[in-house]
Amino acid sequence: MKHPRTWLLILIAASCAVRHVRPVDAAGTPPTHDLDASLEAVLETGRLEGACEAYANGARDEATRLRCGKWMFFRETFGTVGVPSRLLRFDQKHYPAFYGRGFEAMGMIPDPASEDGMPIGLAPGSLSTHAFTCAACHFARLPDGRYAVGAANERLDYGTLIASIGAPLSLSFDLESKTTAPALRATLRRHVLAAKERAGYSAEAGLLGLSLITSAGAQLTLEDQVRFLALAPGTMDFLTPPLLDDGVWTVSRILPLWDLPGSEARARAGMAHEMLSWNGGVHSLMEFIEGFVAIGVGPAWTQEQLIPLRDYIYRLRSPAPVADARVEEGARLFGERGCAKCHDGPHGGGTRVYTFAELETDDAYAKIYAPGPDGYACCGLRAGPESITRGVKAPRLTGLFATQRLLHNGSVNGLEELFCLAPRAADAGDGQRAGGHWMTCRGLPDDEKRALIAYLRHGVR
Ligand code: HEC
Ligand code: HEC
Repeated sequence: MKHPRTWLLILIAASCAVRHVRPVDAAGTPPTHDLDASLEAVLETGRLEGACEAYANGARDEATRLRCGKWMFFRETFGTVGVPSRLLRFDQKHYPAFYGRGFEAMGMIPDPASEDGMPIGLAPGSLSTHAFTCAACHFARLPDGRYAVGAANERLDYGTLIASIGAPLSLSFDLESKTTAPALRATLRRHVLAAKERAGYSAEAGLLGLSLITSAGAQLTLEDQVRFLALAPGTMDFLTPPLLDDGVWTVSRILPLWDLPGSEARARAGMAHEMLSWNGGVHSLMEFIEGFVAIGVGPAWTQEQLIPLRDYIYRLRSPAPVADARVEEGARLFGERGCAKCHDGPHGGGTRVYTFAELETDDAYAKIYAPGPDGYACCGLRAGPESITRGVKAPRLTGLFATQRLLHNGSVNGLEELFCLAPRAADAGDGQRAGGHWMTCRGLPDDEKRALIAYLRHGVR
């Protein structure tokens, strides 16, 4: 997963003025159902099936398009290469105590329709692998138990999942394997010993090992494993081995996809483009999706084929929060205490990029893409100076009642910490330092902080 790789490959204008109203069909029901306490009700598998075939055959009505987009969101890997499917099944079959059924212990959501324990968000990709779909990271269960499309999956323990996926197999051949991080060796030891007791296990592991040697599975170095294991859930560096590596360690948090502003709202706020990604350097959602798709090894995708996914994402709205008596007071303070100076765009998102010095925030992320003196990204990445901003945007402030992990590096845990009503984490190392954005701490009485928090939990409109 490394969508920024080709972000600037294709500079397409946002070709459509998307209407930001929730469409309904003739019967008055929205074409998709994206928030519910019932997982099946949100997955609505039966209702989505066939929508992309109908779209490919020329159906252009809104309901078909959005249902196809939702199907793509959950199922489409765009031909990207992921983890060998046999390895995932092996880990599921023999290590459910470590990974959880459907990799639930790694923060994934088990797919109720999968017989071999595959989670939602991993689907068959190229070269006999299972690869990520958008749903792995952008679909989550909220703290109130509801499943919400567009929510950032803050539980996803990407680091442990990626670092550990081949470890049970390696340790089956050599429990002291020096290519496996000591922490993983220690945790997995008893699981491996128990598995080896089972009849047929060693032969199965041997065969799988042989088949994977020939598929040239990139092994993370020990150093990389240690860094991956230290990642907080919901955060990642997507430009590292085994994917494309920009050679620098930058951590960023999964962003929610709710409430992306439409062209009218952007124009009103004076935003030159959509300012996507934490560095605000991706100019449109179509550009973002095309960047993701370009890393696949399958046949090329046309913009027309990607429109359903784009339009579906534009329709995602943050769930309505609970009312609070202090929301109005908080809204007033948001203006009076200078928050709105920076959070001045649609839904409290900023209209420019801020430097790390302005925010006094961990600046490791400024190194992303490791650009050379000409301002262009390293290592074959095509991003140019206009998309490498060396700064961070102010994100949209909606859905915060359901968001625990805050700031671009995910280092701050909840609004109480952001406002210094609770202590921030001790130094978690380069890329994950929990300092900065002190304007929510300094010079604000606790009472005002609480009113601001009530407003933020309600969502900036
Ligand atoms: C493995 C996890 C993962 C997967 C899979 C994934 N994303 Fe993301 N997404 C992220 C992370 C992390 C960020 C923040 C990256 C950054 O800006 O540094 C992000 C950011 C975004 C943003 C920017 C949002 C904003 O407000 O700026 C968009 C849009 C997005 N993703 C769309 C998608 C789509 C569409 C897919 C599927 C084709 C997808 N993502 C798949 C992890 C993921
Ligand atoms: C100098 C501009 C600036 C000012 C002033 C400012 N912010 Fe921010 N805010 C940002 C930026 C930029 C970020 C993202 C920083 C990061 O990710 O490291 C941010 C992040 C946040 C977040 C975290 C959102 C998330 O999803 O992680 C919240 C909440 C927030 N600001 C609220 C406020 C409030 C309340 C005030 C006023 C007391 C305020 N901000 C003042 C620029 C500003």
